[in-house]
Amino acid sequence: MSHARPTDAAAVMPVLQAGVALDALNTFGLPGRAAQLAWIDSVPALQALLGSAAWRAAPCRLVLGGGSNLVLNGDFPGIVLKVGLRGRRLLDSADDAWLVEAAAGEDWHDFVRWTLAQGWPGLENLSLIPGTVGAAPVQNIGAYGLEIAERLAWLDAVDLESGALRRFLPAECAFGYRDSVFRRNPGRWLIAAVVFRLPRPWQARLGYAELARELQAATAHAPTALQVSDAVIAIRRRKLPDPAQIGNAGSFFKNPVVDAAQFERLHAAWPALPHYPQPDGRHKLAAGWLIEQCGWKGRDLGPVGCYERQALVLVNRGGASGADVRRAAQAIAADVRARFGVDLEAEPVFV
Ligand code: EPU
Repeated sequence: MSHARPTDAAAVMPVLQAGVALDALNTFGLPGRAAQLAWIDSVPALQALLGSAAWRAAPCRLVLGGGSNLVLNGDFPGIVLKVGLRGRRLLDSADDAWLVEAAAGEDWHDFVRWTLAQGWPGLENLSLIPGTVGAAPVQNIGAYGLEIAERLAWLDAVDLESGALRRFLPAECAFGYRDSVFRRNPGRWLIAAVVFRLPRPWQARLGYAELARELQAATAHAPTALQVSDAVIAIRRRKLPDPAQIGNAGSFFKNPVVDAAQFERLHAAWPALPHYPQPDGRHKLAAGWLIEQCGWKGRDLGPVGCYERQALVLVNRGGASGADVRRAAQAIAADVRARFGVDLEAEPVFV
């Protein structure tokens, strides 16, 4: 058996492949080629690349995980870093928490199910979210009453400008709703590994009404973490298109947050308006509802559709380009603005 340490082989610079098709590397299935693509499977290999002339000469860089939050606008003229870092392990088991580490290239949902199988619950509400572990903190993934920010112990990221590895504590990540310091500085950091703090004793997070209803139907007892995960999976399968079958990037718009005065005006005019009061007195609105009211649910614009079971999701009906997606998104946002005076902000990153 070989016991080579990862660093022994890894300081070798990764191969730069030229003209790589990205169609299968983004879940929307949008066409485009990377001028160059490097498969990153170790931090030293990445650091070797960062010190190279090819890197300095590249006009732009893109860090690519599962490609599930991306609108690709044709060819990419620079270097794509495809994150292939693998590995996951228990770092520590204390009375009040499990600390579990995963490398950035691990598949998010596989990782969540693995933690549950090991008996380390706490991530179950985030089951079935497409993408990788490393991409999850970038947009602070959240669903069914939980955001990843609440489970982060720390993460390690490589500064793509200096090559240095830096540890970020949660407060340093500047997490917000679908937001972080990594999202606001695209191309600056490559997240290499993430450590989760899973509190003990475990408590189910059942504040999201639809999840509570699903579990009441499935079990008469207090649910286990695995049952919570299964319920989340069932809800998501009902409402959200499987990217393996229909190209999409999940929710296409963020749920807009409006101030109290604007909320009062809207609520008076549309009493059925779904809304979620925020700690700062503002209100989060359901973008899916606003879009549905404008008649977009199930409607297509060219090859791009507004999904029939969840209006917040745009889908590729076949052969769509990044420009087609942009056009549909702009048409939907314009209608919502005209009718409600609310601006929708896209959730995926436009490349
Ligand atoms: N709604 C409609 N019509 C629609 C869709 C939604 O009226 O076509 C209404 C629903 O009736 C409900 C409200 O909007 O009252 C909220 O809908 P839902 O529970 O489906 O959640 P969401 O706000 O549309 C957000 C996240 C999802 C996450 C769910 C569950 C964002 C942008 N999206 O969607 O995240 O799974 O909550 O927590 O915050 C993603 O980011 O890709 C994603 C799927």
